[in-house]
Order: sequence, then structure tokens, then C-alpha cells
Amino acid sequence: MANQLLKGKKGIIFGALDERSIAWKTALRAVEEGAEIVLTNAPIALRMGKINELAALCNNAPVIPADATNVADLENLLQKSMEHFGGKMDFILHSIGMSPNVRKAIPYTDTNYDNFLKTLDISALSLHKVLQASMKLDALKEWSSVVALTYIAAQRTFPGYNDMAEAKALMEGIARSFGYHYGFAKKVRVNTVSQSPTITTAGSGVSGFDAFFTYADKMSPLGNATAEQCADYCLTLFSDYTKMVTMQNLFHDGGFSNTGVSQGIIEEMEKAAKANG
Ligand SMILES: NC(=O)c1ccc[n+]([C@@H]2O[C@H](COP(=O)([O-])OP(=O)(O)OC[C@H]3O[C@@H](n4cnc5c(N)ncnc54)[C@H](O)[C@@H]3O)[C@@H](O)[C@H]2O)c1
Repeated sequence: MANQLLKGKKGIIFGALDERSIAWKTALRAVEEGAEIVLTNAPIALRMGKINELAALCNNAPVIPADATNVADLENLLQKSMEHFGGKMDFILHSIGMSPNVRKAIPYTDTNYDNFLKTLDISALSLHKVLQASMKLDALKEWSSVVALTYIAAQRTFPGYNDMAEAKALMEGIARSFGYHYGFAKKVRVNTVSQSPTITTAGSGVSGFDAFFTYADKMSPLGNATAEQCADYCLTLFSDYTKMVTMQNLFHDGGFSNTGVSQGIIEEMEKAAKANG
């Protein structure tokens, strides 16, 4: 299914750790659709990950390390990318999330505040830093598109999601506010895509993930959206077909966000009630 939707477009993809990563799938699909890309991730992730394999599959895309919390790294990434492309860019995918509290299984009500601040810096402020550095260096063309990935725990409580819920709420706010400023200044659009639970390194770090994945799948009229489908949706947002979409949080979740309860879940509960006598 390649339609050259992104022919001639150039962009940066953050966050491809391994072949399960949403960013990995998006990188492959963007190149299939005619885009040229630069890949980036935190230096530690580059050492552990398999990004060079991905780069080879993406017409030998350059891999430029950047810790997304470090402004100097981000400026270096943007400058090197513009040198590589010979000019400004058309899109950026922010596919970054990490919570030390989640990773260390520290309960929300017993949070470690240094960790909490790291969660917010890595998972939310990093979007502001990417946008601010891009604006300062004038790295994005008019009508270019920045997409960041988020989760519905920003709006509703999912207890295992821990402090990532606040990070996502903050990040969605940043997309809205920066989208306003970047829109007026340069016609750059900024949106978040709120994706279904997806089996990746970040996703499966959340406690009770497997049960929750199945629950969301049963709740959603279309089922859970896969990482590949998320990649496809991101590509439409990078394309010229969505030029007037900005400052939005867009649910890509098979209908989960607007479903109160599904018949499948009711039947499961009835079965459980019968089994318990
Ligand atoms: N998997 C899910 O269920 C799910 C659902 C909705 C939204 N999301 C979001 O999708 C995005 C991508 O996650 P994924 O599921 O593909 O998992 P993933 O673990 O493959 O990707 C997360 C990426 O963040 C990168 N990262 C962490 N700290 C960084 C830093 N300081 N600087 C730069 N990069 C850093 C990691 O190296 C990794 O590549 C995240 O924002 C995540 O919250 C995931």
C-alpha cells in the first residue's frame, strides 16, 4: 500500500528502539511513501537498540543521537539534519516516553518526586524543547507537521499508567499551546495522536498491561489499533491532505474513547458472576 503520499518530504523520527516501536513502523512506512528521514534516539538507546538495522532498511538514513531532554543535543540534531537534507524539513515524529517510577514499579501514591520530574522532562517537556529548538533554528518549512504520541490516560484514570498520565496531559497541552504560536508564526501544525495500548517496550512496562490490552480490545468496536495502523495515521498527518489540522488530540483507538461499555465486556462480567455462584 504505497502511494508516494510523502514524496519529496523530509523529516526526523524520534524513538525507534526496536522493531516493535511505533517509531520503527512509522520510519519504514514514511520511506515507503517516498520520504527521506533522519533517525534519532537517546545515546543509551542507540547503544542498546538496533537502530542501524532500521537505518539500512530506510535507504541508509543517518542516525544522529540526541537525548530529547538536552537542548544542545536537539539543536545539534536539527542543524545536522538540515545539513544532510540541504534545507528545512517537513515533519517530525515525537515518539518518546519513559517514567522511572513506572520502570521501578513505585506506586503512584508513594511517588518519588525526582523520578516524577524526570518523567515530565523526558515524556512531555521534550516536545516543547523540540518545538522551541525547531522554531529558533527555523528548521521547519511552512505547513510542516509535528506529531507526538499520547495515551487516553491524559483524560481518564488508568491506575497502572502512574505518573505517565500527568506527562501525557502536559504533552497534549504543549501541543495545543505551541501549535497556536507555531501556527501563527510559521503555519507549522502540531498534533498529538492518542493510540490504543500497543505491545512495545514502553507499553508493556505498564503494570497489568496484558490484561488491559485485552480489555481495551474488547471495549473498542474496531479492536485495538496496531502500531502499523498508527504509523499509517501519522503519515496522513505528515501529508498535505491534513494541512488544516492543528492543536488537536486525535484518538486512534478503534472507538475506545467514546465507548462506555461493550456487550463483550458485559458478557465477560456475567460469566464471572455465574462462575462465582
Ligand atoms: N505502547 C503503547 O501502548 C502506547 C500507547 C499510546 C501511546 N504510546 C506512546 O508512543 C510513544 C512510543 O512508544 P512505543 O510504545 O513505541 O515504545 P518504545 O519503548 O519502543 O519507544 C519509546 C522511545 O522513547 C525513547 N526515549 C526514552 N527516553 C528518551 C530520551 N531521553 N531522549 C530520546 N528518546 C528517549 C526510547 O529510547 C524509545 O525509543 C511513547 O510516547 C508512548 O508513550 C504508546
